[in-house]
Amino acid sequence: MTIKVSAPGKLMLFGEHAVVYGYPCLVTAVDKRLYVEAERITASEDEIIAPQVKESRFVLESLAYFKKRFKINQAVRIKTNGDFSHRVGLGSSSAVTVATFKALGRLFGQDLDARQIFDLSYRVNLRIQGVGSGFDIAVATYGKTLYFVTGGKVIIPVATRQPLDLVVGYSGVKADTPFYIRKVSEAFRHRRVQMRRIFSEIAVLVEQARSALEKADYRRVGRLMTENQRLLAQLGVSIPKLDTMIARALEAGALGAKLSGAGGGDCMIALVTKTTRQAVEQAISAAGGELIPVANHAAGVKLEP
Ligand code: PMV
Repeated sequence: MTIKVSAPGKLMLFGEHAVVYGYPCLVTAVDKRLYVEAERITASEDEIIAPQVKESRFVLESLAYFKKRFKINQAVRIKTNGDFSHRVGLGSSSAVTVATFKALGRLFGQDLDARQIFDLSYRVNLRIQGVGSGFDIAVATYGKTLYFVTGGKVIIPVATRQPLDLVVGYSGVKADTPFYIRKVSEAFRHRRVQMRRIFSEIAVLVEQARSALEKADYRRVGRLMTENQRLLAQLGVSIPKLDTMIARALEAGALGAKLSGAGGGDCMIALVTKTTRQAVEQAISAAGGELIPVANHAAGVKLEP
């Protein structure tokens, strides 16, 4: 019997970095998915077939952790496959971890609920990366759009009916997330009062954005995104390439724009309408950004036929 599972990638909408310090963030699942196939084998060793080295590390750790936790001795073959590469920072490692636990749970008759999958996956992610709020793990597990607080202290679905009309532009620079988390924590040590003020302002934006999303007030969501970007620039995590892509998107009529994730590279997002989408896409391309066609508010981890 082969179990096939998929889990989505993510985009941070609001609140990156502040979330690491206990403030809330908003994250959405994207329709690019990571697939895991798992089966029992009669061999002495497990077999991991993962096209990306980074992913195989997460699969191996998850498998080892699962076997220890549920006292399993049998060998397993796990194959992974992705709709997206880890290059653009859409969260392939969190998706592969979540999908691996879901598949193993099924394979060995441990029907793990979402909370268990989140907790197990978060632990594995922390073991490998040492830092992180777990927002990516949460959205890979639960899907849709979430209001989230570090470590899963709060995980609440945002009551929005539809996906956001977003344009996603890749900066061409791979972001080094742990480096930027450390950079912010270094700044936090030296300028605690100022950093706390920025985080609190971000937290206020997150609350306002949650309510604007629930009311489908997209003009307000857009303004809040641009405001969040201004605060991220104050944290020192934006880079000129992202700044240019964001400025061009706004000039072309986007309702709002910001970087998404740790900063230092990866992607920016711009909120558009049907009438402004094309102009914004062209502006981001002209600024040297690579358009990443993804929809958001996608389903969380699930079994595949
Ligand atoms: O770089 P990404 O997309 O993994 O986002 C990191 C977001 C941070 O808030 C900086 C870290 C975290 O784990 O929440």
